[in-house]
Amino acid sequence: MSTGIERESGSDPRFAEPYRALVRPEGARFIEVLDQRELPHAVVTKRVTDVDAATAAIRDMVVRGAPLIGAVGAYGLALALDADASDAALERAHAKLDAARPTAVNLRWALDRVLARVAPLPVSRRADAAWCEADAIRDEDVAINAAIGRYGLELLRALGGEGRAVDVMTHCNAGALATCGFGTATAPIFLAHDEGLPLHVIVSETRPRLQGANLTAWEMASRDIPHTLIVDSASGLLMRRGEVDIVIVGADRVAANGDVCNKIGTYDKALAAADNSIPFYVALPSPTIDWNAVSGDAIPIEARAMDEVLTIAGASASGERVAVAIAGRGTNARNFAFDVTPARLVTGYVTERGIARNAAELHALFADRGN
Ligand code: MRU
Repeated sequence: MSTGIERESGSDPRFAEPYRALVRPEGARFIEVLDQRELPHAVVTKRVTDVDAATAAIRDMVVRGAPLIGAVGAYGLALALDADASDAALERAHAKLDAARPTAVNLRWALDRVLARVAPLPVSRRADAAWCEADAIRDEDVAINAAIGRYGLELLRALGGEGRAVDVMTHCNAGALATCGFGTATAPIFLAHDEGLPLHVIVSETRPRLQGANLTAWEMASRDIPHTLIVDSASGLLMRRGEVDIVIVGADRVAANGDVCNKIGTYDKALAAADNSIPFYVALPSPTIDWNAVSGDAIPIEARAMDEVLTIAGASASGERVAVAIAGRGTNARNFAFDVTPARLVTGYVTERGIARNAAELHALFADRGN
């Protein structure tokens, strides 16, 4: 029986530099994704051919990052409708995909968008319309990344000068691997590097899933961008020493009052940045804004398995994947995947429509939104 998810090892040129986290080959009724759990040790692609596989890819973090899981969710609905486009199947698939991960609002946003597009149509036309809508979500994300990159680039240019490298700190992975394009927080970094602005990126490892060490560092290395990996708890020290010019992070959900939910550890960085008068920016695609969440308190924080904290996983010298225990038997752990940074600690939100300095400016930028 097909699992709907097939594994192919090796280097697929479509994921070569510039790599893509998600590909829908022309006209295909499936998608291919990079298995991010394998990076940086191997480049492995998976073919996702049904809704269960799409759900599993999101739930098991084959794909991750708010914009990317939104796009994969949208394609997951299209896959579901290829099998059965009835009202009941549509509702079931929406609920299944929506339950895959709770925090990043892009998933619900994308699912609702596809649902709204296809529900009024006759059953026979729904699947094609869902594939079109998923493609549109993917393509818009690419354009959003580019616009965030252009606005964020101005911030980096303003900090540069006299040949000195701008020290940019980021957290987790808000890069190409988290999106359909070339990232949110990384987009300004990639553009600045491409135009020759000297940069040095400080990447925090992002325990427990190590998105910084495994993914962001890999993205920087594959573009030859000077970067240094630090443990999460070293951020404050570097800021106090004057070794950080700017912090740019992504977001999984931003509340209407500007509170930012992002990878666990983001709040600590924002506090240290404020204490050291270092600008703290959030790269924010508009589908990540939850206009219905009054504040960060309304955002569900994903709690993950304690094993992720009690062990650490990597590759041995021979390339074999290993996970080792880092705490003795009898120790419990709590594993919060995200935290909330209060709006007062945010210097600005870099969106596809420009930079907002506060929630009021964010509302003004998106005054024409539909909800
Ligand atoms: O748990 P993940 O890897 O899906 O979380 C992703 C993040 O929190 C990223 O830092 C990011 O800012 C949001 S996606 C651009």
